[in-house]
Amino acid sequence: MLDTDSTVSPPPRGSAAPNGVVHLRRGGTSVVVDLDAESPAIVHWGEDLGDAPAETLTSLAVAARLQRVSGGLDETAQLSVLTTAASGWLGTPTLEGHRDGQSVSARFTLTDVQASPHELHLQFADEETELTARVDLGVSAAGLVRTRIAVRNEGDEPYTVQTLQPALPLPWDATEIFDTTGRHLRERSGQRRDLTFGTHLRESRRGRPGADATLLLAAGRPGFGFERGVVHGIHLAWSGNQRALAERVPTGEAFLSAGELYAPGEIRLGRGEEIASPEVLGSWGDGLDDLAARFHAEWRARPQHPRRSRPITLNTWEAVYFDHSLPKLTALADAAAALGVERYVLDDGWFRARRDDTAGLGDWTVDAGVWPEGLHPIADHVVGLGMEFGLWFEPEMVNPDSDLARAHPDWLLRGRVQLPPSARQQQVLNLAHPDAYAYIAGAIAAILDEYPIAYIKWDHNRDLVDAAAGPGGAAQVHAQTLAVYRLIDELKATRPGLEIESCASGGARVDLGILDRTDRIWTSDCLDPVERLENQRHTALVVPPEMMGMHLTTPHVHSTGRTVSLSMSGAVALFGHFGIEWDVTTLTEAEATAVAEWVALARRVRPLVATGRVVNVDVADPGLDVRGIVAADRASAFFTVAQTQTLISSPAGRVRMPGLDPDRSYRLRIVTPGGIVQQPAQSPLAWAHHDTLLTGRQLAVVGVRPPVQNPQQATVIEITAA
Ligand code: DGJ
Repeated sequence: MLDTDSTVSPPPRGSAAPNGVVHLRRGGTSVVVDLDAESPAIVHWGEDLGDAPAETLTSLAVAARLQRVSGGLDETAQLSVLTTAASGWLGTPTLEGHRDGQSVSARFTLTDVQASPHELHLQFADEETELTARVDLGVSAAGLVRTRIAVRNEGDEPYTVQTLQPALPLPWDATEIFDTTGRHLRERSGQRRDLTFGTHLRESRRGRPGADATLLLAAGRPGFGFERGVVHGIHLAWSGNQRALAERVPTGEAFLSAGELYAPGEIRLGRGEEIASPEVLGSWGDGLDDLAARFHAEWRARPQHPRRSRPITLNTWEAVYFDHSLPKLTALADAAAALGVERYVLDDGWFRARRDDTAGLGDWTVDAGVWPEGLHPIADHVVGLGMEFGLWFEPEMVNPDSDLARAHPDWLLRGRVQLPPSARQQQVLNLAHPDAYAYIAGAIAAILDEYPIAYIKWDHNRDLVDAAAGPGGAAQVHAQTLAVYRLIDELKATRPGLEIESCASGGARVDLGILDRTDRIWTSDCLDPVERLENQRHTALVVPPEMMGMHLTTPHVHSTGRTVSLSMSGAVALFGHFGIEWDVTTLTEAEATAVAEWVALARRVRPLVATGRVVNVDVADPGLDVRGIVAADRASAFFTVAQTQTLISSPAGRVRMPGLDPDRSYRLRIVTPGGIVQQPAQSPLAWAHHDTLLTGRQLAVVGVRPPVQNPQQATVIEITAA
């Protein structure tokens, strides 16, 4: 029997309407927007569709329109760039809000269109709710989509914004999700699942993205890897509370969406006030490496991108922790300089009463007991050795056991009379409080004025819990995040050349909001190279490698208890901003020679790291990790073959090294400092003792045998065009 609902659908709307279809194209990416849909809708985001004739684009848009179906609305709602529930959209909307519980029904009309080949700015209005909105959508030279939504209250009554999160459509066959999760010491662990009907929602209510944040929320064709498989992903450039979701709805649409996560009533717009969502950056690729390359190209093209060679860095934390003494730290500086270190960073423990992590945060003056002459002796010594001097701060935090907290308890974020649960014995300074802001800005400035500080390690060691402006007050994470941005921006603007590292209990604040104004992140407190392999691979899906701090570890790793070889530690650290976190005053002569060789290698490859393309090889053996960086002109590359466990085959099967020019010939050389560790039973690796010349195609398709290695050893192969 025929369902009485299943009649012929109404004719497609809009084919003769005035706005038409906009095709944004750049960097190998196309975005097609149907402006004649009920509400403007992105009908394609992804592979470049070429110079498509206008009528085909119109047809593409019409081909995306939805039929009426039984059991549904008379006009099936389509995902649009500004989707609200009032339009009949039954999935997660892009905008929701109310006026004290009223005016919940927003439905916008397109009022203005500004289009250029790469950008589209759409203006909307809804007279009934007295709101206007703007959607900005652009495709960058790198082929990245950048979009945000802004909403403005045109009415007299305050308008509370609850949801504001741009959405980007996915191909229907994107049925597998990849995202990241984690914890302190294990950030950005990957996870996969099917994108089935419903919503896969990732939220952070930590006042920072958090160690468990998904840096990238991606969905692709089943089985997509780093080398192959169409995949789309989004990142939210924001350092506060946030949500990202992947959703598949029964009307045949799948999409990704992300935005700030507002606490109840956090965003209340008065008349004429506006709020913009953080930017959502979308990338796609044939394989995750392709997707990541767009993020890297985008970030490297910014004027403020750190372009000078990344200085080899020594950080004092794991060498001395809170045990500051001038003779020890001076000896550490001498040993570091002798190894080729170029930047010396004095970590936590230098300021008033900071003998451990229970006290002192907030009192940003040098501890006279430990440093009777201030930091001058160590800073001058470091600079005298030809190194830059860097210093640790944690500007957003306060220990209740500090003069600051005692003098200004009202400067601490709290929603109740009782302080929020503490973390690492600390609370959070309300930077949106003008006096607190002025105090902290002044305290940092005073230290920077007194000492030759080229670099700040800016730490942030707790989640924001119950973060309100005072007992009974309004939620404050949004304002706090903007205040942190302002503090960093002002410092950067007034002190040209000052570099800042964003650290948050390791890598708990890794996002392109903070990285737009800082120079690198501390990728993880876990220095174990075996653990770092996954962490760094996934962090580099969005963050360019030269912005990721990677340090040689003490061989007996503090965080995991594992003992690792220098080859593993060095090879893993080559893929970013190279440094050392190890008491190098304890090295034997042979160890010091080996570390110096790693430093020299890191200096040689760093131009490649800062400009090249990251290649992750999808290998068959779970005990093997093969990755490389290929120069932009494909004239050179280096690859590492790292072994994390014993392999079932011995010797190992051949490993491919893709990404080079297929038609060029290349010389291969093993350049691991110390060479191959040869066991008595092994014969030499034939190609390592031969003038090995292979084409890029041979390297990509066939590959070479890696040397036989023990678990936790690694080999570095340098490749240069013949
Ligand atoms: C956490 C950071 O991640 C570490 O590197 C170190 O700076 C400590 N904080 C210092 O307290």
